[in-house]
Amino acid sequence: MASSRFIFLLSFLILISSSKPAPAPAPAPATATATITIPLSAPSSTKLNISSKNPWGALYHLASLSLSRAHHIKSPKTNLSLIKTPLFPRSYGGYSISLSFGTPPQTTKLVMDTGSSLVWFPCTSRYLCSKCDFPNIEAAGIPTFMPKLSSSSNLIGCKNKKCSWLFGPKIQSRCQECDPTTQNCTQACPPYVLQYGSGSTAGLLLSETLDFPDKKTIPGFLVGCSLFSIRQPEGIAGFGRSPESLPSQLGLKKFSYCLVSHAFDDSQASSDLVLDTGSGSGDTKTPGLSYTRFQKNPTTAFPDYYYVLLRNIVIGDTHVKLPYKFLVPGSDGNGGTIVDSGTTFTFMEKPVYELVAQEFEKQMTHYTVATEAQNHTGLRPCFNISGEKSVSAPELIFQFKGGAKMALPTANYFSFVDSGVICLTIVSDSVVGSGFGGGPAIILGNYQQRNFHVEFDLENERFGFKQQNCVS
Ligand SMILES: *[C@@H]1O[C@H](CO)[C@@H](O)[C@H](O)[C@H]1NC(C)=O
Ligand SMILES: *[C@@H]1O[C@H](CO)[C@@H](O)[C@H](O)[C@H]1NC(C)=O
Ligand SMILES: *[C@@H]1O[C@H](CO)[C@@H](O)[C@H](O)[C@H]1NC(C)=O
Ligand SMILES: *[C@@H]1O[C@H](CO)[C@@H](O)[C@H](O)[C@H]1NC(C)=O
Ligand SMILES: *[C@@H]1O[C@H](CO)[C@@H](O)[C@H](O)[C@H]1NC(C)=O
Repeated sequence: MASSRFIFLLSFLILISSSKPAPAPAPAPATATATITIPLSAPSSTKLNISSKNPWGALYHLASLSLSRAHHIKSPKTNLSLIKTPLFPRSYGGYSISLSFGTPPQTTKLVMDTGSSLVWFPCTSRYLCSKCDFPNIEAAGIPTFMPKLSSSSNLIGCKNKKCSWLFGPKIQSRCQECDPTTQNCTQACPPYVLQYGSGSTAGLLLSETLDFPDKKTIPGFLVGCSLFSIRQPEGIAGFGRSPESLPSQLGLKKFSYCLVSHAFDDSQASSDLVLDTGSGSGDTKTPGLSYTRFQKNPTTAFPDYYYVLLRNIVIGDTHVKLPYKFLVPGSDGNGGTIVDSGTTFTFMEKPVYELVAQEFEKQMTHYTVATEAQNHTGLRPCFNISGEKSVSAPELIFQFKGGAKMALPTANYFSFVDSGVICLTIVSDSVVGSGFGGGPAIILGNYQQRNFHVEFDLENERFGFKQQNCVS
């Protein structure tokens, strides 16, 4: 999920009574050779199984969430240099993993999110979550991490360099209660507030031990203890590019996943999230994958995002003529394409989206447009295919710089929203809600990444993918 942060000035520095500021900034643990694998999951259904009295409303809700986003993880083991952990599809439209923090470890589910960087969990018995009634999740029932029950929980101090990861180096001058002569600072790092597309979270930074089962233990991991959130089904594991993200703190060379197809039903099918903590493989490519380089945003805006250069969108035989300014981040930092596991449906800024939607409308005149479904779901175009034995939809191909082509399976962009009605599962601010100001013009969401093996090769700054059935 796309996030932005700002310093929170409310006074809720209290609450973690047993925690003390961590003394000196502990050096990040050097993790030698290893891979971590975590499961990710879902059923291979092309039908959106919305178990709700108001299926269109539920879909509208999902489409709305895609304009903001969410995510998760879980963990088995093996190999010394790879950590694997299961990644589960969740009814709110994200994928989650389970991570264990603390001494003794407390396991918590977190949305796996490549569009933000902080790792945070719902925290303390006083955790408050507003507007957090998601399908199968009740705000009151969201499990929380209890720092009091962990002997390794420490509040991050104001002078700790990890405080600067979130607040920048200038925060040091704001540690007024710290005596500059003694370096003896008991003042905590200020509370953080993170804004995501549709929600937010706020809390205090902790230093905690992160545990992978039968694997490695990472002491001094920076994690957010959130005390208050809006519209968050669970915590978030930030896999973005900033120093506080999980890949940055673990010094990962790469990570990869394959998102199982999901029906928004909290299915137990999962696939693995693989974290490569090894010594790297040089510039060796994973066989079978097509690669495109990660791009830099020319500004300091949006440092968390994985930008790729989308060159063309091909629908059937037609190259959609995309205005260049949307494809490349401009001098104001806006525009460009990012890969985001925390967004459900791919987002396109209105001018791009219109070209894409109109091209599908133009090529699919053999079906009746289902106006009512469009009105209710916010998705467009929708077609009435009742009575049809099979559906023919034009191919959709994303072409990236360097020639890599992502040819999407039809189920990744047309889905049943009702018996006999299919809709294009791409959203725009003109369709649901409004007010998308700046930022990436195209956000490649998890719904479109399903059944692709996807690799974030951080060592070589490139994004690799290949189509694959993710259910093992
Ligand atoms: C839809 O989900 C419900 C409960 O989550 C399940 O009982 C039903 O079998 C599912 N239907 C399909 C077609 O997957
Ligand atoms: C461990 O991971 C490496 C890649 O990092 C792989 O080459 C090797 O085969 C794996 N070993 C086992 C036992 O899975
Ligand atoms: C730091 O300050 C605390 C409380 O002010 C004091 O008890 C402690 O001895 C001091 N430690 C050092 C190393 O100065
Ligand atoms: C859908 O919405 C449009 C515009 O609001 C309206 O003109 C049209 O009558 C609606 N159609 C249906 C079938 O609800
Ligand atoms: C689809 O078309 C059929 C007739 O061809 C009609 O009976 C049905 O109501 C339509 N469904 C929707 C959702 O518009």
